[in-house]
Amino acid sequence: LWTAANIIEDQIERVRAQIGEGNVLLGLSGGVDSSVVAALLHKAIGPRLTCVFVDTGLLRWQEGDQVMAMFAEHMGVKVIRVNAADRYFAALKGVDEPEAKRKIIGRLFVEIFDEEAAKLDNIQWLAQGTIYPDVIESAGSKTGKAHVIKSHHNVGGLPEHMKLGLVEPLRELFKDEVRRIGVELGLPREMVYRHPFPGPGLGVRILGEVKPEYAELLAQADAIFIDELRKSGWYDKTSQAFAVFLPVKSVGVVGDARAYEWVIALRAVETVDFMTAHWAHLPYELLDDCSRRIINELRGVSRVVYDISGKPPATIEWE
Ligand code: XMP
Repeated sequence: LWTAANIIEDQIERVRAQIGEGNVLLGLSGGVDSSVVAALLHKAIGPRLTCVFVDTGLLRWQEGDQVMAMFAEHMGVKVIRVNAADRYFAALKGVDEPEAKRKIIGRLFVEIFDEEAAKLDNIQWLAQGTIYPDVIESAGSKTGKAHVIKSHHNVGGLPEHMKLGLVEPLRELFKDEVRRIGVELGLPREMVYRHPFPGPGLGVRILGEVKPEYAELLAQADAIFIDELRKSGWYDKTSQAFAVFLPVKSVGVVGDARAYEWVIALRAVETVDFMTAHWAHLPYELLDDCSRRIINELRGVSRVVYDISGKPPATIEWE
């Protein structure tokens, strides 16, 4: 019988049989797949699992603290947090081309992950949150998005001498099964049913050059938008929603004075497969609340716009 509980039992047995007495390393990204792997492996092998969580400075608002609170403090999973925001911002300085930014962010992840892995001895296995659609897609095309997505968490960059075996307990599962397992393992529903978040994070939602002050503003604007979507019940009616930072200055009035400040774009889409998407017809009142809150609560934003482009021709992300 295919219940979440049965799948978990089965996977725990398989993982134990596969790794024996070995120790496992996992790159925890905060996303659903790696989170479910962490919870599953923690249940299967407890302290023999070590997670590395790289805080890139390009994550959602306070996401680093939330990941640590949930996995390290609440569940007792061994998590090494690497605060690498400064390194990411330094590496991205002066770079404004989207693919160049993606490459830098991806490469830096592998570099940092390798550094952390090298500090640990007695690791024989590397766990990955590969799910069934990733297996299918990367078998078909090497240029597919799944390949790009998982390349962040790939073995590709690991030092030769480490020669780690791969543990991929979600390899046969679809996303909805992974989510059900996550809930069954005790992860908060809110986290497990979160909208997808791109590997390069805010790095591709800040148009052009990435700067720490832009990332800070964007993460806050995004948090306000998501908060309003959740409160109004629209979060679950949309497939993906987020804010985008436009490095454009626009005139506004703050108090009696004219201000010359940044623009935030809001994007919310409905889609089944993320290959095509419609912009979500959010109620005007909701958009109004979001706009007011973002402008009033954040210093440095004078204008909020809503993206009404479909995919195609526009993509879901702005870069
Ligand atoms: P686009 O913008 O191509 O996005 O319509 C489709 C889906 O893919 C996500 N996306 C990415 N995910 N690394 C990722 O891990 C990336 O570089 C990347 N670019 C886009 C996007 O968020 C959407 O869900």
